[in-house]
Amino acid sequence: SGKDIERCRDSPSAMGWEDTIREELSSLHGIPLYKSFIEGWPQVEAFQARPDDLLIATYPKSGTTWLSEILDMIYHDGDVEKCRRDAIFNRVPFLEMKVPEMPSGIELLEKTPSPRLVKTHLPVQLLPTSFWEKGCKVIYMARNPKDVVISYYYFYQMAKIHPDPGTLGEFLETFMAGKAAYGSWYEHVQGWWEKRQEKQLLYLFYEDMKKDPRQEVQKILRFLGKEVAEGTLARILHYTSFQEMKKNPATNYETIPTTMMDHSLSPFLRKGISGDWKNHFTVAQNECFDQHYREHMAGSDLCFQMEA
Ligand code: PPS
Repeated sequence: SGKDIERCRDSPSAMGWEDTIREELSSLHGIPLYKSFIEGWPQVEAFQARPDDLLIATYPKSGTTWLSEILDMIYHDGDVEKCRRDAIFNRVPFLEMKVPEMPSGIELLEKTPSPRLVKTHLPVQLLPTSFWEKGCKVIYMARNPKDVVISYYYFYQMAKIHPDPGTLGEFLETFMAGKAAYGSWYEHVQGWWEKRQEKQLLYLFYEDMKKDPRQEVQKILRFLGKEVAEGTLARILHYTSFQEMKKNPATNYETIPTTMMDHSLSPFLRKGISGDWKNHFTVAQNECFDQHYREHMAGSDLCFQMEA
């Protein structure tokens, strides 16, 4: 094709980011993942954490960016200007991220001064062992799967690294079968839930953060052993609201080239509510999903609020 010929002229074998567009997923130790991320896996597996790294772990579309911004604001004592120093994906590097022609998560982390905030979507069993060996603190955020699957469906459309999601009905099948990127939501939320018994891990819920952000931010502060002035807390809450983050170029992902993320198809900060699934699921899809949910959550004491 034309694009291949053009690339060959510069460098005969290099992969370009174009190669990641709408490519099928591959499998990393049984977890469906982007091929370009899998290529970078050896560096991720060998990653050396530092004891003061804070890990932000989530299944995709569960409030990662929100939690990341809250933490960067806490780390900068509510200084809004400092938190606009760079885009969120550079301030909080994405551990396993690797696409051609862009610095990888590992490369960004090497350049980041401590104390670092690190984002990952890895299921607990794939986390590089160094995080546990160094005793790093972890904050996990989970979101109810009905809102996750809707948010993910729109994200598949706008972020071109994903294969075409098909219809919502088809994507629901993909998600329930654990074939969306990062695999089974059920295994992800339960795997990390079990870890909180033995590790320094704070497990949060998107729905709680929506209902009472002040209370949840205070939980985070206690977990970090930090205190902030009332004015600082109020500022953090204000600037991490959905409306503020949506218009902030340092948090809304609009600085990513349109060829990779097309915000005209769906903005990255899309709705930011609980219960949007009700505007999308048919009655039959909802019954089928509930049945599947009951089967896959049976025996777990983990509970989700499906709406606000
Ligand atoms: S990613 O790509 O996995 O890192 O995405 P992630 O940030 O985890 O999830 C994106 C969804 O989170 C919503 N969001 C917020 N909701 C409420 N308040 C704030 N401040 C906020 N920031 C991001 C975002 O809108 C996506 O959810 P949907 O339901 O698609 O709107």
